[in-house]
Amino acid sequence: LAGTPPMGWNSWNAFDCNINEAKIKAAADALVSSGMKDAGYQYVDVDDCWMNGRDASGNIQWDTTKFPSGIASLASYVHGEGLKFGIYSAPNTGTCQGLYGSPAMPSVYVGSLGHEQQDAKSYAAWGVDYLKYDDCGGPLSGFAPMRDALRATGRPIVYSINPYNGNTCDPTGAHTSTCGLDLLSIANMWRIGADIKATWGDITRLIDIDASLSPYAGAGHWNDPDMLEVGNSGLSDTEGRTHFSMWAMLAAPLIAGNDLSSMSATSKATLTNTEVIAVDQDPLGEQGQLAASPGTNLQVWSKTLSGTNVRAVALLNRGTATASITVQWSALGIPTVAATVRDLWSHTDLGSFSGSYTASSIPSHGVVMLKVTSTP
Ligand code: GLA
Repeated sequence: LAGTPPMGWNSWNAFDCNINEAKIKAAADALVSSGMKDAGYQYVDVDDCWMNGRDASGNIQWDTTKFPSGIASLASYVHGEGLKFGIYSAPNTGTCQGLYGSPAMPSVYVGSLGHEQQDAKSYAAWGVDYLKYDDCGGPLSGFAPMRDALRATGRPIVYSINPYNGNTCDPTGAHTSTCGLDLLSIANMWRIGADIKATWGDITRLIDIDASLSPYAGAGHWNDPDMLEVGNSGLSDTEGRTHFSMWAMLAAPLIAGNDLSSMSATSKATLTNTEVIAVDQDPLGEQGQLAASPGTNLQVWSKTLSGTNVRAVALLNRGTATASITVQWSALGIPTVAATVRDLWSHTDLGSFSGSYTASSIPSHGVVMLKVTSTP
């Protein structure tokens, strides 16, 4: 499961609690009609606020006003389009909206603490393929019981957790602080920081947290810098492309968070750039790393791809002025002789270069993304 970073769409960033059956179906439809499904997006995930307490036997109930046909029927609709279906809960009495929403409604937006097996069985019976399990102030020890409960159902369910409770969880404590969770054996992906918003400051905040966590990424277990904000107001088109490029460099799950039924042609082009997606989904499963900082606010990131001496390279201009950035082959750990360079946004082979390559005129908050193949 999650042999490469999961790809899909989630309702939260676009719709918050304002979800219903029609919006989720429209998102599934749009995943197909936009070409996103063909580009690799698979999961349609319903976030917080779908539930409505428990029945007398403790079985979790969905909100029948929002989901009149029911969750199982919605999952089957999504499956009918060749997609997979995801849902949300928390290891606490309520979900985040149940506990922190205004008004707080923990008896409506219930969490799964103490009901792990019962809820996992419901999910499996409904046809759920992905669970986002969000700490929401619950005990961090609550994540392993849900993993076990999901496994016990026998249904393959991607387990996406948010153990962030003010501290970034680091399985060893070597890079941030230890949270006492063996994340690699617990989950397929784990959030590394507080919620993303559609701002440039949040994109760089999450890149910087993720930078030190690359040792933990690999097939089946990924750092999650949070869902995408591409297409949401607050980011320019340039910033959206950079956000998407850097998530691919970081081998991050690519979970779109915009309203797919009303996205611009530019947002669609960003989300469906198959050359950038291929970097994210490279079978080697390496997370990219900062390779050089050739100037103030100028960075060179490198991700080792499968093959011999192949790198994805992002030339990232975090500054406020247009800039040139040079990548030295020596910083990439490839032979310093000729290497071919392809631009993954202009979809152009740029030629063969010895020792280094310089991209000029990178706009403020822009990125040039390359595939560099050494050809000794
Ligand atoms: C937390 C998560 C968000 C979202 C909300 C829902 O804040 O980090 O991604 O799931 O809860 O309440």
